[in-house]
Formats: sequence, C-alpha cells, structure tokens
Amino acid sequence: MNLNNKTLVITGVSSGIGAELARLARFAGATVIGVDRNEPQLTLDGFFKADLGDPASIDALLGQLPSAVHGLCNVAGVPGTAPAELVGRVNYLGLRHLSQGLLGRMPAGSSIVNVASVLGAEWPLRLEQHKALAATEDFAAGQQWLEANAVDPRTCYQYFKEALIVWTFQQSQRWFRDHGVRLNCVAPGPVFTPILGDFVSMLGKSGWPAMPRAWCARRWPMKWRR
Ligand SMILES: NC(=O)c1ccc[n+]([C@@H]2O[C@H](COP(=O)([O-])OP(=O)(O)OC[C@H]3O[C@@H](n4cnc5c(N)ncnc54)[C@H](O)[C@@H]3O)[C@@H](O)[C@H]2O)c1
Repeated sequence: MNLNNKTLVITGVSSGIGAELARLARFAGATVIGVDRNEPQLTLDGFFKADLGDPASIDALLGQLPSAVHGLCNVAGVPGTAPAELVGRVNYLGLRHLSQGLLGRMPAGSSIVNVASVLGAEWPLRLEQHKALAATEDFAAGQQWLEANAVDPRTCYQYFKEALIVWTFQQSQRWFRDHGVRLNCVAPGPVFTPILGDFVSMLGKSGWPAMPRAWCARRWPMKWRR
C-alpha cells in the first residue's frame, strides 16, 4: 500500500484501533492528522484535541483541519457502558457531523471509512427507524429525533452501530455520485484494546461469541460455515 502524498484524518487516534491504524498509515507514507479527546501516545504529523460528541467542538476542529483531505477514518467510539445519549452523540451524530463538514475538502477519489461493529449486524430488524434517523439533516435534528424516539440503554451500542451502517449505505451512493468520495463501513469482531473490558461488562461473558454465531448461521451460506 502506498499512501505517499495522501493526508488522512484519523479519529480515536490515542488508543486501540485508531492508534494502530495511524502507525500503519504513516508507515505506508501518509501524512496523518490525529483527532482525539486524549493526547496521543505516538508520533503523528498533526494532532487536534476535540470532543467528537459535541458539535461546537467539531466545528472548531473543522476550522483547524487542512484544506485538502484524502481520507477520513472515523474510529473514535465509546462502549455501551456509557450513557445512551453519549453513545449516540459520539458513535453516530458526531461522526456524521465531522464527515459532512469535511466532505467539501475531499477531492474525487478520496475515501471515508467508518468503524462500525459486528454488533451492528442486526440493522435489518430496525431498518425503518434507522432510515428515519438517517434522514435527519444535522446533529441538532438527529438529537431531536432521538429525544422523541428513546433508545434502550442496554442495547444502545448495537443500536448506534446499526444506525451507522444504515446511514453509510444511504449516503454512500449520493456522495460517490456527487463528489466522487467513497464512504464505507468496516465491522470488526472483538479486538484486544482498552475498550474490550467494557464490552464484556456490556454483553456478559457469553455475549461476544453468541451474537456473531447467530448472525453467521442466518446469513452465511452453508459451505462457509465450519
Ligand atoms: N475493540 C473492539 O473489540 C471493537 C470491536 C468492534 C468495533 N470497535 C469499534 O472500534 C472503534 C475503536 O475502538 P477501540 O477498540 O480502539 O477503543 P479504544 O477505547 O481503545 O479507543 C477509542 C478512542 O476513541 C476516543 N474517544 C472516545 N470518545 C471520544 C470523544 N468524545 N471525542 C474524541 N475522542 C473520543 C478515545 O479517547 C480513544 O482514544 C470504536 O468505534 C469501537 O466501537 C471496537
């Protein structure tokens, strides 16, 4: 992979997946601008502290980021042990706000990658709700919709990862058609990062293996199953 002359903005850069991604991207030649609420522990080409659950903080960040960005990796996230309202702001509304704000600075051929989760796999069960939330125009409208359509705190993490997958589906065609910018999700299973303990508290000991297995059994063709 050659990322020479590419500028990437990576959120959640001060820990776990975001930190490792930043390290690998710099190794491949990218100029990496990190964003996080905490100071980074690795060398970057630039870093901005921001609260990605707060639209005012994201707007201030947008004022500092470079005028041309070739890649945005939306990695920052909080677990479902946090209050549901915070999970919605950081994992969904803020991610959307930052992506919408940066889109105009991304030349055709640029790419946005959102880190969802295998725990968002059940999005088809709540598709209409996620489409309605995705149709809200901005952070404030999304927050209003969520005030009127309360999310169960016990499954808020799954809910907002599902919502992220649906929003990505919906926006990706439009943004590619109008701007030539690709928008995709990745949906990791368990990764050994500092957040993993929160996932175990959130799901119980059997939660991680049970859910992906159920998902695999329903959607994967027989020949792919072990
Ligand atoms: N670790 C896993 O098993 C796993 C599995 C699937 C998906 N994910 C997703 O991957 C992403 C990264 O998770 P991770 O495992 O690296 O976790 P992590 O806790 O190691 O890193 C998350 C980073 O996001 C930052 N962050 C959180 N809230 C923020 C805010 N309001 N403003 C700015 N920065 C903020 C944190 O400071 C931290 O640096 C998350 O979106 C998570 O949901 C993780």
